Amino acid sequence: MLLSGKKEVRVVVSDNDSHIPGSSLKCIECGSIFKGSPRLYKCPKCGGLLEVILHNKEWKPRGRGVWRYKDMLPRIDIRPVTISEGSTPLIPSTLDKNLYIKFEGSNPTGSFKDRGMTVATSIAVSSGTKILIAASTGNTSASVAAYAARASMPTVIVLPKDKVALGKIVQAVGYGARIVWVKGSFDDAMRIVMDIVKTSEEFYPMNSFNPWRLEGQKTIIFELVEELEKIDNIIYPVGNGGNISSAYKALRELLEIGIITKYPRLFGVQAVGAAPLADMIEKGMDTPPFYDSPETIATAIRIGHPVNWRKVVNAIKSTRGTIVKVSDKQIIEAQKLLARKEGVLAEPAGAASLAGYLVLKEKGIIKKGETSVIIVTGHGLKDPDSIERMEYKWIDVEPTIESTRLKDIILEHLV
Ligand code: F0G
Repeated sequence: MLLSGKKEVRVVVSDNDSHIPGSSLKCIECGSIFKGSPRLYKCPKCGGLLEVILHNKEWKPRGRGVWRYKDMLPRIDIRPVTISEGSTPLIPSTLDKNLYIKFEGSNPTGSFKDRGMTVATSIAVSSGTKILIAASTGNTSASVAAYAARASMPTVIVLPKDKVALGKIVQAVGYGARIVWVKGSFDDAMRIVMDIVKTSEEFYPMNSFNPWRLEGQKTIIFELVEELEKIDNIIYPVGNGGNISSAYKALRELLEIGIITKYPRLFGVQAVGAAPLADMIEKGMDTPPFYDSPETIATAIRIGHPVNWRKVVNAIKSTRGTIVKVSDKQIIEAQKLLARKEGVLAEPAGAASLAGYLVLKEKGIIKKGETSVIIVTGHGLKDPDSIERMEYKWIDVEPTIESTRLKDIILEHLV
């Protein structure tokens, strides 16, 4: 029995559990260090979030995708469970010559989650896990379902009922996941998953409070550092805050081994109806004013209680960044700009990074001439309803219509 926070709970980790060689876990709150157990997700002393410490990091990129950086990732003793994730396109923007779009929608399941899942699933397999489990606003579930399928493992996903975009449900069903619908919010789903894994060894959590998963997500930054000579600002949409936290960890590790000499600024973007972290920063509070009923059309980031909030605060404060909020209207506008000016179809949460960039530029926080990268986190095909909301025109014709007449109608429509 170990103490976790105020309540005494059984922590599912013992000396007999496997450990990831060359790694430890460190509590970001009390600084305690533990063996690198794949099954430790919270500090047994104070309940704080944990972070992976890699003992031997080496910058020796080779090959493609996430595992190109295997010397900067946990060492696993099996062949990784991979679907060729990572190596996503970096697209120069047509809107602004110093802006780049990192299109994470081109990962195998259409979101950045795949980078984390290849690492977390590999660790789950190597530690003898039986079942994968995750709460999700949609993308995590699609991704974990695919990697579980690849590893021939059953997976259970816990989703907020009526709050998940259609394409993501289709993916999870297609990959064969078992779905549990919770008549509540994502935060309720997350609490349920945390309760299950706290006391059960069969289930392995694939959410971003699992520090091993976040290791894979560092590779967005590793790719950017190889792709661009200078980066001043990197903008992430923020839900639970795992992705932006992994960015900071990647930057810290690159600084530590001398690959970069200074941090770019990290910026987070939240939707107005789900913005506890933006509010906290704006009002100079010590803890976020959590939202009990978050609401936004960007369903992927409809999160009121971000589990990684302390890591996010470290990330933005240490890199001189901030978190801004954007309205649903600004998100829809950014989604349209990405689709119709850049040729990049993003889901609303993914487009929130462009909306945030525009706000940061308008506020003068990002200055002219600075090089910025927006992380477009998920593909637009995942959320067909959001695309349908964009205005569009069409022409209905009979098959017998004369082509000269049709040509005239088309030309009229184009003006
Ligand atoms: N963008 C997309 C497309 C997402 O799916 C998510 C999170 C985020 C941004 C935010 O990332 O949580 O690391 O700050 N989606 C999770 C899910 C919560 O269940 O798919 P974060």
